[in-house]
Amino acid sequence: MRITRLELADFRNIASAALSPCGEVNVICGENAQGKTNLLEAVALLSGRSLRGARESQLTRFGEKAFHLKMAFADREREQVIQYDAGGERRKVALNRVPLQSAAELAGVFTCVTFQPEDLSLIKGGPSERRDFLDAAIGQLKPVYGRYIAQYNGLLEQRNALLKQIRRTGRGREMLPLWDEQLARVGTAVSILRQDYLHKLSPLAETVYRGFTGEKETFSISYEPSAFPKGTALSVYAEELIALYRQALSAREEEDIRLQFTSAGVHRDDLSVLVNGLPARGYGSQGQQRSAAIALKIGEAMLLKAVTGENPVILLDDVMSELDPGRQDYLLNRIRGFQVLITCCDGATARRMDGGKLFHVAGGVFTERG
Ligand SMILES: Nc1ncnc2c1ncn2[C@@H]1O[C@H](COP(=O)(O)OP(=O)(O)O)[C@@H](O)[C@H]1O
Ligand SMILES: [Mg+2]
Repeated sequence: MRITRLELADFRNIASAALSPCGEVNVICGENAQGKTNLLEAVALLSGRSLRGARESQLTRFGEKAFHLKMAFADREREQVIQYDAGGERRKVALNRVPLQSAAELAGVFTCVTFQPEDLSLIKGGPSERRDFLDAAIGQLKPVYGRYIAQYNGLLEQRNALLKQIRRTGRGREMLPLWDEQLARVGTAVSILRQDYLHKLSPLAETVYRGFTGEKETFSISYEPSAFPKGTALSVYAEELIALYRQALSAREEEDIRLQFTSAGVHRDDLSVLVNGLPARGYGSQGQQRSAAIALKIGEAMLLKAVTGENPVILLDDVMSELDPGRQDYLLNRIRGFQVLITCCDGATARRMDGGKLFHVAGGVFTERG
């Protein structure tokens, strides 16, 4: 998948811009607050997602009534056009000039994988950030996964409400096994999909990380399920696994009633990320943590390509700082088979790119440099 033409009008600080990125690496260079992230935000919006969680009214350039985006992109089969006019009275989204009901329909039409400085929380943050990454990544590949998660969250809320009631009134304990059974069934299905995803992601992210560090460092990721003993094989949905999950719930029953909260289950899962055999969260340097987060994201893009046959566009915002020249070189010159849009502040970085295209941005105005 590649963007062939991108036109923006009155989007954030960009009054008007038209870019024709190349199919490989495109560097967008400019000082702080000139419009680099704004450009990537527009592209992410066209994939049906929000990069900064902003409301559409915030995206309209100050003093204007609406913003307009138009993007032509080619996948393996054809060239398509998305038009997105919003931020004003009503939103109009069209694919190949046919109006869509909602922007969410763009998901899967145009796909991209993004890395922004905030994504460092994938390494530095708590387990919930890593579960969010997993949930979004698996959801892109398997729509049923999102339904399992929604179902699980509903059941969990009900079990927690029952725990509160038992704690308050001393009644209702006989109902717990009913919720445990349902949670165990859905939770086991979620665990199997998470294990499967990480199994596939692991070698890809590892290869990226090793390339990134010139083979000097090792990297590994693994699934840390909350409801299964370490080392449980989570490959086939089976009654034995469901029973293990149920046992994890019932073993903590007293504690859960006291806490009024379900303390085991896929909502407590984590993902272990090791650099040179040590947890990246507690021991990694800034550069290692950043490299680890980027390796996960680029691995995600590679896996999407392997599974769907279609390569997502990779958007890298402000990743260059804190990376040494070797790691920068990897991002600029060694991610092959993907269109990459990468922003940076420093013109010298861009000069180390072989081929590719360089754009300069100042005050929301983009110019292509030879
Ligand atoms: N709706 C808007 N209208 C006009 N300017 C905006 C709007 N939203 C943000 N900006 C401006 O965009 C600039 C930030 O652009 P951004 O792309 O985040 O910068 P950077 O180049 O550092 O990534 C800020 O100066 C901000 O005031
Ligand atoms: Mg920025």
